[in-house]
Amino acid sequence: MPDSRPILFFDSGVGGLSVLAPTQRLLPQAPIVYAADSAGYPYGTRSEAEIAARVPALLGRLAERFHPRLIVIACNTASTIALPAVRAALDLPVVGTVPAIKPAAELSRTRVIGVLGTEATVRQPYVDDLATRFAADCRVLRHGSAALVALAEARLRGEEAEDDAYRVVLAGLLDQPDGDRIDVVVNACTHFPLVADRLEAAAGRPVQFVDGGEGIARRVAHLLDGADWPDAPGEGTAVFTGADPGIELLRPALARFGLTQIKLL
Ligand code: SIN
Repeated sequence: MPDSRPILFFDSGVGGLSVLAPTQRLLPQAPIVYAADSAGYPYGTRSEAEIAARVPALLGRLAERFHPRLIVIACNTASTIALPAVRAALDLPVVGTVPAIKPAAELSRTRVIGVLGTEATVRQPYVDDLATRFAADCRVLRHGSAALVALAEARLRGEEAEDDAYRVVLAGLLDQPDGDRIDVVVNACTHFPLVADRLEAAAGRPVQFVDGGEGIARRVAHLLDGADWPDAPGEGTAVFTGADPGIELLRPALARFGLTQIKLL
């Protein structure tokens, strides 16, 4: 009898779809539940204490309701703050999303890399630690942007912003001392790969954008190696925690990921 328990992806909003996509390519039969904490969105402007309390509690409720075989916290802000607490609270594998500083340092020729995340993510000691461990010989410049999170959310609802909106965000990173030498930027928020083409165009010079989506997919596939999947994944489920993020407008984007059942928690 195949095991129909899903992989549960969790984010504050729809950014985690950028992590879901590579996982679906590796594990196309995996049943999926995608949970967006629409009542708590955005996380990037919340305090550490709020996120540390909110995320484990919410994931506990989601685990009780959907019985996932594995959880992916597809959100850098939640992962860099709450991952240890979630792992301690739940008796199942939990994969987090942390800024891809290691691959960025491997790619950089100028040894100046940028980290673009939420305000909450870029100030985390976890990011200092990654920079020390994997990019000790690089200058690591950071910028937190709530505006870019909103641009990505809007894009999935079918609303495209002007190029200038992206140029303004990038200026926050590139227009600082040594910013003109940045050759690799870490998209340290899962929302940002959803607008990577707009960021590349707005940079106005060759800058490589990297993220952790493929690495997470490989980690999930490794942890679930040998799993007995159903022949087909069935309809995927998108769960929202309350506040309406424009669900009707999001339906087409969610459907592209097979998320055709919409539920409220
Ligand atoms: C946000 O809700 O501010 C985005 C969180 C994230 O993906 O880091």
